[in-house]
Amino acid sequence: MYEHDVIVVGAGGAGLRAAIAANEAGADTAIVSKLHPVRSHTGAAEGGINAALQEGDDWELHAYDTMKGSDYLADAPAVETLAQDAPEDTITLEHWGMPFSREDDGRVSQRPFGGLSYPRTTYAGAETGHHLLHTMYEQVVKRGIQVYDEWYVMNLATTDEDDPNDRQCEGVVAYDVQSGTVEGFKANQSVILATGGPGQAFDHTTNAVSCTGDGHAMAYRAGAPLEDMEFIQFHPTSLPSTGVLISEGVRGEGGILYNNEGERFMFEHGYANNSGELASRDVVARAELTEVNEGRGIEDEYVHLDMRHLGEERIMDRLENILHLAEDFEGVDGLIEPMPVKPGQHYAMGGIEVDENGQTCVNGLYAAGECACVSVHGGNRLGGNALPELIVFGKRAGRHAAGEDLGEPEIRTGYGDDVEDEDDTELPVAPGAAGLDSSDAVADGGVAAETGTLERAVERERERVDRLMERDEGVQHAEIRAKLQKAMTDYVNVFRTEDGIKKALKIIRECREEYQNVYVDDPSRTFNTDLQHTIETRNLIDVAETIALGALVRNEFRGAHWRQENQIRDDENWLKHTLVSWDDGAPDIFYRPVILEGQDKTYEPKVRSY
Ligand code: FUM
Repeated sequence: MYEHDVIVVGAGGAGLRAAIAANEAGADTAIVSKLHPVRSHTGAAEGGINAALQEGDDWELHAYDTMKGSDYLADAPAVETLAQDAPEDTITLEHWGMPFSREDDGRVSQRPFGGLSYPRTTYAGAETGHHLLHTMYEQVVKRGIQVYDEWYVMNLATTDEDDPNDRQCEGVVAYDVQSGTVEGFKANQSVILATGGPGQAFDHTTNAVSCTGDGHAMAYRAGAPLEDMEFIQFHPTSLPSTGVLISEGVRGEGGILYNNEGERFMFEHGYANNSGELASRDVVARAELTEVNEGRGIEDEYVHLDMRHLGEERIMDRLENILHLAEDFEGVDGLIEPMPVKPGQHYAMGGIEVDENGQTCVNGLYAAGECACVSVHGGNRLGGNALPELIVFGKRAGRHAAGEDLGEPEIRTGYGDDVEDEDDTELPVAPGAAGLDSSDAVADGGVAAETGTLERAVERERERVDRLMERDEGVQHAEIRAKLQKAMTDYVNVFRTEDGIKKALKIIRECREEYQNVYVDDPSRTFNTDLQHTIETRNLIDVAETIALGALVRNEFRGAHWRQENQIRDDENWLKHTLVSWDDGAPDIFYRPVILEGQDKTYEPKVRSY
């Protein structure tokens, strides 16, 4: 058994920032991560960090752009906190040595990004996330923060009161990837989940293979609702064969999108007459797929992104990494030919419901970064707003988890008197747990009740591993995962229909049932990635189901969520967050109104055009 005051799960941008803040607030802090910190998926973030740093720009413009980008589904208190704190928190990175790209006069450079009214995106070439990780990891090492890397957190240890608002998270259970042992980590104060996104629920994604929604699934099963899961961002420029990201920075620097007729379709087909390629991502992704669906795509699959006119010097200075990615993963030389691109799953706007301090409704349980939904992105995230979210809300979660008073949050969490729980959507199959392996964080699982919460949780997870290892036939997780990914990509993609989403839910149900017979082929206890991926696949099933359920119930078109049956934004009925909570092994759907009132103004929903 290991013991610390604050345990941070995940070592990407949000996890590192949270750990630094908790340590600075005086807590004995440890990070537990399935990867070494600098291998975290934040390292794949290319574009940059939005922060109103220059004269002529200000946090209010940043907040306005973000609310508009969100299609008025973000909560204003969170958005204003993001816009207000991003400048100082970005400068802190600069002081820690982050190698930002600079102008000739030495000032940090900023470039335009989609949906921004000012060139506000600070960057370090086209590998901003990589430098961010290294900069913060140095600070973690300098402060002597304990890092348990290659420890895979399998579940939370949470008390089992009926009402999730009364539960307490007392620690986590983790699997040592190197030795195969399962151990408990006691958190004297709090646990912060910073486990990133669930991109592996889709088969064409910019996300690393490690992005399996572990934190989402663990928090959900422990009683914290997942919020706005239907809002999945499809980045307009991923490489067709691998999903590897080609940064929006290319379009920020002046890159142009063309269809197979050589038309600059963003303007010529009227998708975004003012901003063209720099409209927000949902708009550009739909435009590209419309081009393909109407026969103007290349090889019926993709469009071209051309940056040749920027010239070698500028490309080498600001986008060198893009040249390498296009060459290595697509065999294309971006200096002499256009690059093939198509929309790919990139980001989850929704996540574990938290308030401005990163706190969930379960006592002692926090979340930050992509796995959390505070909510600053609403229906669509603006490019360059993920990294400031990591540093602003990672820091706040770390401070609050370590006991600092950050004031009363305005955002409420959990089931309460402000929620609406009428939902009469007909489901095609019963969702939720199937059979024995429910692995609820709060279930007793037959382990003696007189032992403590953490000890019971450790026993349950040891039994789960034994069960998975003992079975020597059945179905392998990779088959189930591939089926799930295909269903999500076929039916819960950029364009969604009621029938398609229902098909996805049926396939998810089949995946759950097949998972009852899952077995691990590799008998070893050391570096058994087969076992780890099998556990991750269970998490993906739970998370994919919440995405599909949210997509089915939200019968309107908002941000990244397009529904064929109702192609309008329906503010009368849908200015509300979708919440899904795990109630005794089955999902329960309810809603909470969005907060459009900021400090000094209300963000009235307007027609959103670019
Ligand atoms: O396009 C990009 O560089 C990605 C940036 C982001 O997702 O914020």
